[in-house]
Amino acid sequence: MHRARCYRKFVICIVLFATVWIVMLVVGPKLTKPPRVLPFLDVSYWSKSSDGDHSSSLNADARDVRNQSKPVLPGRFPEATRHLPTPVLLFASMRTGSSFVGEALGNSKDVFYLFEPGHALQTTQLAKLESMRSLGLTYNVASLCINMLAKLYRCDFRDLDFYLKYLSDQKLDVLKHRTPRLYEACRYRQPHDATQCKVTLRMATKSCKQSKYVIVKEIRIPQIEMLTPLIEAHGLDLKVINLIRDPRPMTASVLRAMRGRNLFSSNKTLPKYCRGVLSKYCRYGKANLELGKGPSWQRRYMFLRYEDMASDPTSTTNNIFKFLGRRKVPKTVQRWIEKNTKSGTPGPYSTSGNSSQVYQAWRGAMPFEVAKAIEEVGQCREMMDMMGYRLLEDERHQRNLSRSLYGHLNV
Ligand SMILES: *[C@@H]1O[C@H](CO)[C@@H](O)[C@H](O)[C@H]1NC(C)=O
Ligand SMILES: *[C@@H]1O[C@H](CO)[C@@H](O)[C@H](O)[C@H]1NC(C)=O
Ligand SMILES: *[C@@H]1O[C@H](CO)[C@@H](O)[C@H](O)[C@H]1NC(C)=O
Ligand SMILES: *[C@@H]1O[C@H](CO)[C@@H](O)[C@H](O)[C@H]1NC(C)=O
Repeated sequence: MHRARCYRKFVICIVLFATVWIVMLVVGPKLTKPPRVLPFLDVSYWSKSSDGDHSSSLNADARDVRNQSKPVLPGRFPEATRHLPTPVLLFASMRTGSSFVGEALGNSKDVFYLFEPGHALQTTQLAKLESMRSLGLTYNVASLCINMLAKLYRCDFRDLDFYLKYLSDQKLDVLKHRTPRLYEACRYRQPHDATQCKVTLRMATKSCKQSKYVIVKEIRIPQIEMLTPLIEAHGLDLKVINLIRDPRPMTASVLRAMRGRNLFSSNKTLPKYCRGVLSKYCRYGKANLELGKGPSWQRRYMFLRYEDMASDPTSTTNNIFKFLGRRKVPKTVQRWIEKNTKSGTPGPYSTSGNSSQVYQAWRGAMPFEVAKAIEEVGQCREMMDMMGYRLLEDERHQRNLSRSLYGHLNV
């Protein structure tokens, strides 16, 4: 009697244990798969984190990129992508003048310009992305951006509801600078005093498909080789404009924008935060230029110094449009440049101001010791030398604006 009860208990225990075990076996693997929070994302970009690393941090890191020393970049493209607008990436880092260049190009009526779609991803999807981490998954912002680009370059806004909503949440006068074609589409539909506008799937798709170019400005992709899948796997005839700025004023600008601190009035030392940013900037900058000038990217790659754009916007814009395959700079772009390089006071994110004055202002304001310290960080000296940014001989060299710091490329 007593024994039988004991036996029954034992059997129940075994059965319960086995059931739990089987359930875990069946359901377990499913739990570790990424839920469809962002349906446009390719699952292959998700990986299980092994060492509790920080590749999910917002500092895009390219460690998960395959080492493609010789990317095969096809010259012919599938029928499906041939009728699409030409995809162009304004590939830049933070505080390099990319808003200025992007907006200038966006003023061409046949350009569908988008300002940092990755910003929408980061600001509106962050909570969802972070929840991936509790499942032991890491993500890489740069890769997510590239996946998003693959859709945007096809004018395919399906599954990008969050982005359409993000655009709809922008004030119209912001949209005007950041997505001029959508701004126009909105203006056409909205009452004159409207301050916002619902950007619909249809509106975005139509506006995009009508254009000759889709130009996207993005600052969240550190390495050009990460773009290879857009060409190889997605069959896009991508062109890349690699925008670079002198690391000395770039650093001052990053510190001001990110930390609200003024490098110019600092105590002649370079804050640690700047060293990290700079070291990456110079390392990637150098590698990107080397790859871009190499045989496989040459036709698709344009190197652009912000200083050339600022000091001579007319002929620099000419070069950009030549690279895009157009003989002349559109009138609307010419007018925008005239208006925005000659007057006004530039704020931290402003794109207007007397550019031929402003871009050299750092030479008077930055302590010489700081400027010199910037040159010495990581591979900055090598990068600057390659890009024709002259190193400072002494303080008089820095202050004397009639001695140009911008020479020829050495690649
Ligand atoms: C990539 O491969 C090339 C040639 O195989 C090698 O020289 C280079 O160091 C590799 N780069 C990285 C980042 O592993
Ligand atoms: C000078 O800068 C360094 C590094 O940013 C900082 O640690 C130090 O406190 C600063 N000194 C003064 C007097 O501001
Ligand atoms: C802008 O700066 C340049 C160079 O210093 C100067 O020649 C020009 O007069 C300035 N234009 C305006 C409108 O301030
Ligand atoms: C600035 O540089 C120019 C050209 O090298 C030189 O002629 C001029 O004397 C310099 N001015 C000062 C104040 O050093």
